[in-house]
Amino acid sequence: MKLILVKDYQEMSKQAAEYVIEKLLQNPNMKLGLATGGTPIGTYKFLIEDHKRNGTSYQNVKSFNLDEYVGLSATNENSYRYYMDDVFFNHIDIKKKNVHIPSGDAPDIQKECEDYEKVLTKHGRVDLQILGIGNNGHIGFNEPGTSFDSKTHIVNLASSTIRANSRYFESMEEVPTRAVTMGIATIMQSKEILLLVSGESKSKALLKLWENEVDEYFPASVLKKHPAVTVIADEAAYVEWKANNRAFA
Ligand code: PGA
Repeated sequence: MKLILVKDYQEMSKQAAEYVIEKLLQNPNMKLGLATGGTPIGTYKFLIEDHKRNGTSYQNVKSFNLDEYVGLSATNENSYRYYMDDVFFNHIDIKKKNVHIPSGDAPDIQKECEDYEKVLTKHGRVDLQILGIGNNGHIGFNEPGTSFDSKTHIVNLASSTIRANSRYFESMEEVPTRAVTMGIATIMQSKEILLLVSGESKSKALLKLWENEVDEYFPASVLKKHPAVTVIADEAAYVEWKANNRAFA
């Protein structure tokens, strides 16, 4: 894994966007894996600005999101489908038919998982997958203990994840407890991965990612087995590293 350390969230977002744009210019037909949550919002902002200013086009891009809450429809403001439209897709020229996100309100969620995996297989490997990391090391919604062989599946969210996500909901009761997520094996099929880590709350997870063994109880550790992972982390995410007097990787 390659680590790029930057000053702050703004710089992380800018560098991540530049990374994506470079790949996009090399391959305008790219298959782009996207993430939700707080971390990539700044990256999407930079990508939108670049699209408006420089005309970087997404006309031929196919996008694949990592996950979606079970029970939330695309029109629910807390669904990841709504988030993606709101923070990114509505502001660029991607064709909606090329956007892929599991449907959280599909009548048969198990079938939805199987269908999503089939869609991914049909299109071939994702060229670049953007990832965030949970405090507990989850990637997508693959919580600790998820098999590294997992494909798209239904998960019961960890209580720490439900708590972390509750900031977007009016009450704890409204936070979904289940989600559909690309599996770890699905994520690992991507040709390249860009992991974004920002803020002190992610500091322990970043240090663990570097120092722990590859272990299903810290899902992100699987990334050590992937040949092309770039991590962009800001200084706040690096404090634990410093506190432990670790040398810069
Ligand atoms: P965050 O979530 O970007 O909202 O911190 C990341 C994750 O849980 O994967």
